[in-house]
Amino acid sequence: MFWALFHGAHKACAYSDGMTKKPRSRRAQNAPAFDPNRPYNDLPLLPPQRDVESKTVLKACIEARAALAELKQAAELIPNQTVLINSIPLLEARDSSEIENIVTTTDELFREANVSSASTSPATKEALRYRQALYQGWQGLHDHPLAAATAVQLCQTIKAVDLDIRTTAGTKLQNDRTGEIIYTPPDRGAVIREKLTNWEQFLNADSDLDPLVRMALAHYQFEAIHPFVDGNGRTGRIINILYLIDQGLLDLPILYLSRHILRSKSNYYRLLLAVTQHGAWEPWITYMLEAVAITAKWTTDKIASIKELFDHTIEFVSTSAPKIYRYELIELMFVQPYCRKRYLMEGGIATRNTATKYLKTLCELGVLEEHKEGRDKLFLHPKYLKLLTSDGNTFEPYVAPEKPKPRAKPRNRGKTSRSKS
Ligand SMILES: Nc1ncnc2c1ncn2[C@@H]1O[C@H](COP(=O)(O)OP(=O)(O)OP(=O)(O)O)[C@@H](O)[C@H]1O
Ligand SMILES: [Mg+2]
Repeated sequence: MFWALFHGAHKACAYSDGMTKKPRSRRAQNAPAFDPNRPYNDLPLLPPQRDVESKTVLKACIEARAALAELKQAAELIPNQTVLINSIPLLEARDSSEIENIVTTTDELFREANVSSASTSPATKEALRYRQALYQGWQGLHDHPLAAATAVQLCQTIKAVDLDIRTTAGTKLQNDRTGEIIYTPPDRGAVIREKLTNWEQFLNADSDLDPLVRMALAHYQFEAIHPFVDGNGRTGRIINILYLIDQGLLDLPILYLSRHILRSKSNYYRLLLAVTQHGAWEPWITYMLEAVAITAKWTTDKIASIKELFDHTIEFVSTSAPKIYRYELIELMFVQPYCRKRYLMEGGIATRNTATKYLKTLCELGVLEEHKEGRDKLFLHPKYLKLLTSDGNTFEPYVAPEKPKPRAKPRNRGKTSRSKS
């Protein structure tokens, strides 16, 4: 694997050497010639002029659709959807940002999502903005269809700048080890807009193509247009998730798709390039379908384990400390893995004094852990945080703290002796 820089934007991308199997050349398919050094203004419009739904693709489609259907069902296991909406997108935000080398830890992300501090690292801020963009895009689906304007808004949120579609040349994908230019996206403003309009129409038009295949085609196209100076990868990956929701394949933005992409980043880049170089749609589409299937299964398992921990915590607290047990209290501890006293008050769960008592008891039980936060206190839910931030889905069950044994009554010598006397 080696690295490539985009001119003018200081961006790095991973590339792996060569392709193992070269499909028919572009010339053989009468596709416009591709020269990595020249802006690819001839990028063909969507849909591709040939059938891309091969047997292999359709088989992968069935698997991905089944995995997504399971995920959709699993999400219903958790009655309070905020639990999932808060957690999974944050994992997605971390990995999608890491593809761009914006590295932050999930622990820091969850914490900073809760505490806005001046010391929050730029990487964490950027990943949190990714989650914010994902939310905004999701909310926006109620009001308007996915469009180029959506992409602009998403990218503005991710980058926190008032950017627009590129109008200047100079954006290139370059191998920083050899200096070789890998890909030059279209550079003329009018061409970029024309391709984006076609992309937008393709996303919204009636089509016989499976929506998952359309997602894969559209993702390639968006990245090949590369409409922004920076943030194209992240914007495109958010659009994938929004598109699945738009198509009714998911209800919530909870597919952790970037998990697989980050782990197979060199393939992701190699296969994108292979579409441009050789019109190699099949490996690209199958890669994306596999990414959907693998991450849908992963997310389903994670949700099942969250539900398990949730039920276990309810059982544990209700039996170990029935006086403080309230369903809403436990639920709040799953809305995010960090909690504050005022959340209990704001949620109508407890008054200030009762909240103090609840939190103290939960700490004594080992469910929460108290951390000083300046003059405030932050209550961490360690088991939940561990479940969210680790790959595994198991957890150590809670153990009730040993009740102090009732002390043997001291013999009242005086009384005894008195009665004896
Ligand atoms: N050969 C290629 N053709 C088109 N797009 C590509 C190619 N190789 C990589 N890409 C896309 O370009 C993205 C990087 O572009 P850009 O830096 O604008 O986006 P980003 O969101 O800042 O970065 P990243 O995706 O690395 O997080 C990659 O994530 C990938 O989606
Ligand atoms: Mg970038």
